[in-house]
Amino acid sequence: MEEYPKTLKLKDGTVVHLRLMTADDMPKLLEFFRGLPQEDRLFLKEDVTNQAVIERWIKELNYDRVLPVLAEAEGKIVGDATLHLQKRGWSRHLGEIRLVVATGFQRKGLGTILAREIFHHAVLRGLQKLQALMMESQIGALKAFEKLGFCKAAILKDHVIDLKGNRHNLVIMTNDVGELWRKIGDLILESEFTME
Ligand SMILES: CC(C)(COP(=O)(O)OP(=O)(O)OC[C@H]1O[C@@H](n2cnc3c(N)ncnc32)[C@H](O)[C@@H]1OP(=O)(O)O)[C@@H](O)C(=O)NCCC(=O)NCCS
Repeated sequence: MEEYPKTLKLKDGTVVHLRLMTADDMPKLLEFFRGLPQEDRLFLKEDVTNQAVIERWIKELNYDRVLPVLAEAEGKIVGDATLHLQKRGWSRHLGEIRLVVATGFQRKGLGTILAREIFHHAVLRGLQKLQALMMESQIGALKAFEKLGFCKAAILKDHVIDLKGNRHNLVIMTNDVGELWRKIGDLILESEFTME
């Protein structure tokens, strides 16, 4: 992991630093997640505004099970991407990507940059396939993951509940890691952000 920190510029010139999450990140993570608008938080897998959830992540920090890449700008976390791995069993070839970008930093290419980091780690770890899970109502996220190269593999009806207790269809999006890696190369070439 000597490659971190990395510094780069987004489409609008904003400078962002990428690094891995450490045990000291608790306050910054809480500030980041509590600053997300309800429409972005409501549909996430866990209640990320709950301090106990973040404490558990920090306590269980193990890059071989969950690899968390953070984006920071002016000392604040503005993006969080995680690669979830399973060492054994019939899903050991499969990783799961979760991605969140602060509202003020969305549509500037940061989600694409963070996804590229995750695809890179998936390639290094020899994963064959990646999946992303989201509710069918998360239209922006669905579009973003489609643009990244994911395809809808299945829709499970009324399968998950949001933080308010309402049921939603769960969309399972997948693609092969090699395909995603090729696709992200094209997107990065097309986009205007620069690696420094
Ligand atoms: C999904 C998410 C991470 C995308 O982050 P981002 O930094 O905005 O992504 P990018 O700027 O790289 O966008 C890439 C492309 O995705 C598409 N896209 C992203 N957000 C979109 C939206 N709200 N509506 C439509 N298309 C969208 C666009 O095609 C965009 O390219 P463009 O801006 O050149 O048109 C962000 O919207 C987010 O954090 N959402 C809330 C959390 C979430 O739902 N996560 C998914 C569950 S894992």
